[in-house]
Amino acid sequence: MDIATARVWVTGASSGIGAALARELADRGARVAISARDAERLTAVAAGRMHVQPVDVTDRAATVAAGAAVREALGGLDLAVLNAGTWSQFHVEQWDSQAFADHLQVNLMGTVHSLEAVVPAMLAAGHGQIAGMASVAGYRGIPGSEAYGASKAALLNLLESLRASLGVRGIVVQTISPGFVRTPMTDRNRFPMPFMVEPEQAARSIADGIAKGKAEIVFPAPMMVAMKLARLVPVRPWTALTAVLARRGLHGGPANRAG
Ligand SMILES: NC(=O)c1ccc[n+]([C@@H]2O[C@H](COP(=O)([O-])OP(=O)(O)OC[C@H]3O[C@@H](n4cnc5c(N)ncnc54)[C@H](OP(=O)(O)O)[C@@H]3O)[C@@H](O)[C@H]2O)c1
Repeated sequence: MDIATARVWVTGASSGIGAALARELADRGARVAISARDAERLTAVAAGRMHVQPVDVTDRAATVAAGAAVREALGGLDLAVLNAGTWSQFHVEQWDSQAFADHLQVNLMGTVHSLEAVVPAMLAAGHGQIAGMASVAGYRGIPGSEAYGASKAALLNLLESLRASLGVRGIVVQTISPGFVRTPMTDRNRFPMPFMVEPEQAARSIADGIAKGKAEIVFPAPMMVAMKLARLVPVRPWTALTAVLARRGLHGGPANRAG
């Protein structure tokens, strides 16, 4: 992917990683359209050099229409970065099924709606590139991450399936799995967040991975190694390890909730 000539749509670009990535791609010469719900914040991010297309990705029809509007504004679309997402800590003792539904609606169905907005036109063109925002939190079950982790695990699976089914039809599908990035999403967290990176650094890693067409964009390196190894840990030791975390209240156990 030649970013300097690319027409790009970034969702979830009103703050955090999406905003930093939109700026990074624009700096590298791309023509960029950005979406999220908050039009005012989008306009600030755009700074007059990006197309602003506000949308709530949980609204299927509106998201499909937004995709069409973006293609119209940019004269086509080469790359879609489907990044919109939400996170909140899950507490098993205050079971909240709505929290699960909200995570699935934004993180999973929001991505599915966005895919519907871009895949048919890319299939018709016979080319295109899609980078979906998952997370290393989807690699294994982590206490406190039940709703978020389940939504991201679903995305890891979905994007991996699409990598082949769309790949043979000319569309490159990439999975982005960051570790901790300092954004409004993580600013609320009260547990340790090892190997935290700044959004600008995350944006550079993602843009480099997009340019190289990498199947997986996982960063920072220490978190990638730790979580790839975590995937290999058998179920019993993983349960024992994460039970220690849960007991300490580091990820939503009783001690943490009291605070
Ligand atoms: N920060 C991390 O450590 C980390 C790690 C791994 C993965 N991620 C993933 O990276 C992505 C970006 O997160 P972030 O850390 O940059 O957090 P953030 O600053 O809170 O950004 C989330 C973005 O998603 C948008 N969004 C939320 N709900 C939406 C909806 N229904 N429709 C359209 N847009 C919506 C938000 O904008 P509006 O509120 O204006 O709609 C915002 O632009 C998420 O998918 C997150 O899961 C983050």
